[in-house]
Amino acid sequence: MSTARLIDGKAAAATVLAEVRGDVDALEAEGIEPTLAVVLVGDDPASHVYVRNKVLRAGEVGIRSLEYRLGADVSADELLELIERLNADRDVHGILVQLPLPRHIDENAVLEAIDPRKDVDGFHSENVGGLSQGREVLTPCTPTGCLRLLQDSLGDLSGLHAVVVGRSNIVGKPMAALLLQANCSVTVLHSRSRDAAALCRQADIVVAAVGRPRMIDAGWLKPGAVVIDVGINRIEEDGRSRLVGDVDFASASALASAITPVPGGVGPMTIAYLMKNTLIAARLQHA
Ligand code: GUN
Repeated sequence: MSTARLIDGKAAAATVLAEVRGDVDALEAEGIEPTLAVVLVGDDPASHVYVRNKVLRAGEVGIRSLEYRLGADVSADELLELIERLNADRDVHGILVQLPLPRHIDENAVLEAIDPRKDVDGFHSENVGGLSQGREVLTPCTPTGCLRLLQDSLGDLSGLHAVVVGRSNIVGKPMAALLLQANCSVTVLHSRSRDAAALCRQADIVVAAVGRPRMIDAGWLKPGAVVIDVGINRIEEDGRSRLVGDVDFASASALASAITPVPGGVGPMTIAYLMKNTLIAARLQHA
């Protein structure tokens, strides 16, 4: 059996970050210091790791970052006040509120409070609507990074059948919209789908974003499919803790033509596109 080519997300992210670095220099020459505000509420350990990586990467490409850490018991009003302040601050170009938020805070109300032009996550309804109508400006970082990996691998995606497994607002839905914009035929599978594996076997492209360790194996794939694994699941195996994707890598890589590893696939691209969105936001505000 053939073995799939590994899609190197770290190398692809380095290319995107080099583009960002050039844009940062150009903005700075105009006296603009691109700035990203990152808001972290509570003490979810994974969120702390993600935020630390975002801030570190920003520093590496010359983007100034401001970190706001709030306790898990912060009130919704206090959080909304902070967002209002950041919206009004002309020196802040991007605002990212790390999700999930504590349960007593209405996540949607918080995302809607962010100025859409500073919405570097692309989660505000104005940006979601823009993407769905094909006039996208700021698009969610993870699916945008996945699209770039696919275009780097396959070139023009027109006419290909893409299956997105998962329908979250953060990945599945915007991924489907981006693939449609790229002229794919798109199928979205979810927990209520009938014969999900049979539908998935028709796909030229599979994007897995369900949050279930190793759910998608060779039985879900057409030979030669290109597989993008968005899952990051921590499991205990052989007495140790490890990170695995939503795709059973060993099984799938025998059938796929190309596949992302976990870690080192999609993860680095998410952060790279957050940096890119910060630059797009800074340009929008100084247009
Ligand atoms: N939590 C998990 N993924 C994301 C993301 O892309 N953006 C934000 N803000 N929070 C997240």
